[in-house]
Amino acid sequence: MWALEMRMAWSLEQISLMTRAIWRRVSVRSYRGEPVPAETLAEVLRAGEESIPLWPHIPVRFVLAADADAFLREHGGTLLGYGRILGAPHFIVAISEVTAGYMENMGFRMEQMILYATALGLGTCWMGGFYSRQKVGHLVGLAEDEQVVALTPVGWPAAGGPGRLLDKTLKAFVPDRGGRKPLERLVFAGRWDVPAGQYLTQQTVLRTALEAARRAPSWRNTQPWRFIITENMLVVTTSRPAEQIGLPYYRLDAGIAMSHISLVALCAGIEPAWVLEPAELAGLRAGLAIPEHYDLVGGLPLDARWHTPAPAAILIQEPEHATSRH
Ligand SMILES: Cc1cc2nc3c(=O)[nH]c(=O)nc-3n(C[C@H](O)[C@H](O)[C@H](O)COP(=O)(O)O)c2cc1C
Repeated sequence: MWALEMRMAWSLEQISLMTRAIWRRVSVRSYRGEPVPAETLAEVLRAGEESIPLWPHIPVRFVLAADADAFLREHGGTLLGYGRILGAPHFIVAISEVTAGYMENMGFRMEQMILYATALGLGTCWMGGFYSRQKVGHLVGLAEDEQVVALTPVGWPAAGGPGRLLDKTLKAFVPDRGGRKPLERLVFAGRWDVPAGQYLTQQTVLRTALEAARRAPSWRNTQPWRFIITENMLVVTTSRPAEQIGLPYYRLDAGIAMSHISLVALCAGIEPAWVLEPAELAGLRAGLAIPEHYDLVGGLPLDARWHTPAPAAILIQEPEHATSRH
């Protein structure tokens, strides 16, 4: 059911474009300001609306604030990220019904829109915090069972990086600005904390999917995901913070990483069939020695195809960025 819907929503060419955008995407925080053509914006919005769900029964909406200045004025002031978002001509607001699984579902869906925009040459930046959820909610006409989950600016990236002040603010909130933990620290084999070296030496579909997951953006670059490879499953877990600021973004982050894994799989001709039901996943915890403060979010059945070489077209073509470029 899940895989069937994914195939219907995107053409193979679009999937390939979005997958290659994984290596290129960065959080863009300063923009050229000039408006994006209405039809391009409509295409980006459609990518969000037609994105593949993890949980098809959870309704989501994407609302375009076509005039960023008016949006900010109505919002009542600056829209702060960890710092200022400079010169963005437009914003898109992501809204979901609040129910079990809604955060990972939104991460999974909105990331497809973000990658689609990246493939078109547009800049975006996931934004979770530091704006008035209530005021933005009022602007988009929030229903009682809905929540504003995230926002993104949309526009053409400015050529230069952020100013010094912004850079310092960012540094305070995101200590290693865009760097990522090595794959060896994120992936285990058979059991928690057991190195997965044997799975990471060859450029297989599995390794490429994990590398794509590692490149996923995350709230304050916390990289909360850990992956366990068992004989027949890739298990996705995410670290629950001791103190939660704002929404449970650690679950949204897991959804983003899962979308990257799914895209690589589809490029390799594999239809990923995620196991998501908490009751089905719960039984794995003890056997894999997953620590209590990690949530189990999904399991992906693995077969021999995952251990074959990844198609050359989706291998990493962009250098890793150690710092945010914009
Ligand atoms: C759920 C979520 C919320 C985020 N919120 C903000 C934010 O409020 N402000 C901001 O500047 N960046 C925000 N980010 C961007 C992250 O800081 C960024 O993805 C991370 O530092 C990695 O850098 P990269 O996206 O350039 O690879 C958010 C990312 C995610 C996934």
